[in-house]
Amino acid sequence: MTNKVSNVKIERHSGIVRFIHWTVTISIFILIFTGIGQMPMYKRYMVDQIMGLTWSSNYTVTLMLHYLAASALISASLYHVIFHGFLKEFNLLPQRGDLKESYLIIKAILTKGQEPPSHKYLAEQRLAYAFIVLNIALTIITGVIKVLKNLPSWEFGNGLLYWTTMVHNAATFMIIFGIAAHLGAFIMKENRNLLPSMFTGKVDLGYVKHRHSLWFNELIKQKKINPQAADKVSFSSYR
Ligand code: HEM
Ligand code: HEM
Repeated sequence: MTNKVSNVKIERHSGIVRFIHWTVTISIFILIFTGIGQMPMYKRYMVDQIMGLTWSSNYTVTLMLHYLAASALISASLYHVIFHGFLKEFNLLPQRGDLKESYLIIKAILTKGQEPPSHKYLAEQRLAYAFIVLNIALTIITGVIKVLKNLPSWEFGNGLLYWTTMVHNAATFMIIFGIAAHLGAFIMKENRNLLPSMFTGKVDLGYVKHRHSLWFNELIKQKKINPQAADKVSFSSYR
């Protein structure tokens, strides 16, 4: 197979979108690490013996870091919702028929057949987005209840606290699963063409024409790509 791409790039994610993505990623990694630290696991499994990680079994330190990362996650999430809501950018919201379309895309990848034409995001990316958003929202809602519980002025029943902890922990597990699936998607060569978009912001125009043809046509309509350049680009194989 040749290694041919068009070498013309097009912007897929702005600097702000990338900043929000990496703020969410870093804060979630810190929340998972410090949350597990509160269970408490790191003394028992001697993680706190590792050089530079002696603080990991100190409850006050992990709690403070958990709060700090939680503020970053909540701010980034609110910004994301307001920013895209204001710009009316709803490309990532699931649509009717996404389950069937995801099946057709995965089938085409496995059988080297033809994928259905995609918009800016593939149907499976829209489903994955809904899954991760739901679980992040659940950790935020239950997390706020847990913060209030730690304040002297609030009293909650044991039942509510039990369910809050159950949902907070279950959503943590789902988020870890979601991240594994998100990164696992890049094992497929087809999806690797999207990788540069979260670093440089750009993807190959030939790839867009080939795989995200509905988005490609829209970009031409919006005059975001030059029709002559669009005519010339092609994409003969996946990297
Ligand atoms: C807590 C961890 C993370 C979360 C919650 C997360 C979430 C998301 C979401 C919701 C999207 C939007 C579209 C999609 O679902 O593909 C996205 C896109 C993306 N993410 Fe992540 N992400 C995480 C970590 C990472 C990491 C570690 C990488 C490293 C390679 C990465 C690379 C990407 C790329 C390349 C895209 C762009 C895909 C495209 O342009 O369609 N993500 N991420
Ligand atoms: C991806 C996001 C998050 C993950 C993965 C996560 C994970 C965890 C885990 C594993 C625990 C330990 C088990 C427990 O005590 O229930 C925990 C505890 C806790 N989390 Fe989170 N969390 C997240 C977000 C949040 C947010 C957004 C807040 C606050 C708004 C928050 C506040 C708390 C509090 C207050 C505790 C209990 C501390 C205590 O009283 O011992 N978490 N978290």
